[in-house]
Amino acid sequence: MSAPAGTASVPMWDAADQGTYNYKVVRQFALMTVVWGIVGMLVGALIASQLMFPDLAYGIPWLSYGRLRPLHTNAVIFAFGGSALFATSYYVVQRTCHTRLFSDGLAAFTFWGWQAVIVAAAITLPLGYTTSHEYAELEWPIDILIAVVWVAYAIVFFGTIAKRRVQHIYVANWFYGAFILTVAVLHIVNSAEIPVTLWKSYYVYAGAQDAMVQWWYGHNAVGFFLTAGFLGMMYYFVPKQAGRPIYSYRLSVVHFWALIFTYMWAGPHHLEYTALPDWAQSLGMVFSLILLAPSWGGMINGIMTLSGAWHKLRTDPILKFLITSLSFYGMSTFEGPMMSIKTVNSLSHYTDWVIGHVHSGALGWVAMISIGSLYYLIPRLYGRTEMFSVKAITLHFWVATIGVVLYIAAMWIAGVMQGLMWRATNSDGTLTYTFVESVKATYPFYAIRLLGGLMFLSGMLVMAWNVWRTVRGARPVDAPVLAPALARA
Ligand code: HEM
Ligand code: HEM
Repeated sequence: MSAPAGTASVPMWDAADQGTYNYKVVRQFALMTVVWGIVGMLVGALIASQLMFPDLAYGIPWLSYGRLRPLHTNAVIFAFGGSALFATSYYVVQRTCHTRLFSDGLAAFTFWGWQAVIVAAAITLPLGYTTSHEYAELEWPIDILIAVVWVAYAIVFFGTIAKRRVQHIYVANWFYGAFILTVAVLHIVNSAEIPVTLWKSYYVYAGAQDAMVQWWYGHNAVGFFLTAGFLGMMYYFVPKQAGRPIYSYRLSVVHFWALIFTYMWAGPHHLEYTALPDWAQSLGMVFSLILLAPSWGGMINGIMTLSGAWHKLRTDPILKFLITSLSFYGMSTFEGPMMSIKTVNSLSHYTDWVIGHVHSGALGWVAMISIGSLYYLIPRLYGRTEMFSVKAITLHFWVATIGVVLYIAAMWIAGVMQGLMWRATNSDGTLTYTFVESVKATYPFYAIRLLGGLMFLSGMLVMAWNVWRTVRGARPVDAPVLAPALARA
């Protein structure tokens, strides 16, 4: 697939039967992506309702907002996003390396191990077991399981790269590889904790160091879990669905190195105006501003891949998902650097503006690129030429897009309004508004957010129906491994 000149396949291919690709594990992860997407977003809709109707928990502790919120973030990021990343990376690495996965047994272990992590999270978080570190709430026994599964994932992925039948390593694999390696390092360093009981541990870091490590982790979780892996998806599925080579292979290489270098330094933008040393806060801000360039380089590379095929956007709803996701990616990676500017952050921090930013990235970029990629993938995994209903994909696209727009527009307006209300002072220096007045003013925007979220969720239900109809009665297919010269990846 669109390898640059001079990287043609090496004559390692022997014409004997190379067997088939391992699609079983891809199918398993692909189907679970839809299931966990629905579960995670359902919990998202529930907590969005609780912000409007605080009594919705009925006094039941495990239904309380404080316990369900981390359940939502873990379910959508690690269960939904994680399953999408496992499914697509296993598919892409096999197709572009022209070889079966390194180990079927280990690949199956990663599937069952990851599902076990998710189930353990779904039980322990509502019960109130938490390390209290955002996006790293799971207690130490689950952390160990995550580390073991992740090492197995790395062995399967890099083992497959090592036994590839072509010299060239396609750029999508670079992004997936960076995501796998970095998440391993982030998880292990940020999980350094001392267990005191089976379900309670204390971090080895304390105070400002603890905060710094946590947000080095948190921001790079955004950069590598929620971005680099999904860029891997972009570099494979956008050219495939558009039927065009990637716009600029050279740009993709610059994009890769610039992005992974810059992300590492930007974490302190989560800690502006805190006890973190001021120079570290400024460093985080500067690197966040620089991050705009590689992010937009990648977005432009993806969108321009459509050059000469723009007309396809009119009729192809899968392409609509993929290209719209890139537009949201561009939007959130413009917004992020702006929010990192200290004066802007003094307005946006603690407000719903951050929640709007998060979901333009999470729903607009992460969820939509995953959905587009799954619509490409699922028929091919079940020997179908396309999804059962293309009209249903179009319907899904529109409810999802309108849903995201309602969600993020409501949060932007609410956020800026809150920031302005909190800082407004009267001529005698007293605050113009009480906090509860800002909560009351936010109420209508919470209703719009809930509507947007419910629309996005209903789109997922349409997808589940479409997937079910596509898969029902179909025979799972494991495509034969193709010789590089014959293959179109
Ligand atoms: C139906 C769709 C969704 C709804 C209704 C929804 C709703 C919510 C709500 C109400 C919150 C809490 C906001 C607050 O504390 O003020 C939240 C937080 C969050 N959600 Fe979602 N969400 C949805 C989808 C997603 C998806 C798909 C992702 C990721 C892929 C995601 C990632 C997050 C993250 C990371 C946070 C924490 C943000 C922060 O701490 O700043 N959400 N969501
Ligand atoms: C150039 C890229 C980006 C930059 C510089 C950036 C910057 C920022 C900044 C300044 C904040 C607010 C911190 C605060 O005041 O608390 C933030 C929050 C956040 N961003 Fe981004 N962002 C970028 C891209 C993205 C993308 C693409 C996503 C999702 C896919 C994302 C997910 C988040 C999340 C989840 C938070 C909330 C973290 C929390 O407080 O729990 N960001 N980002």
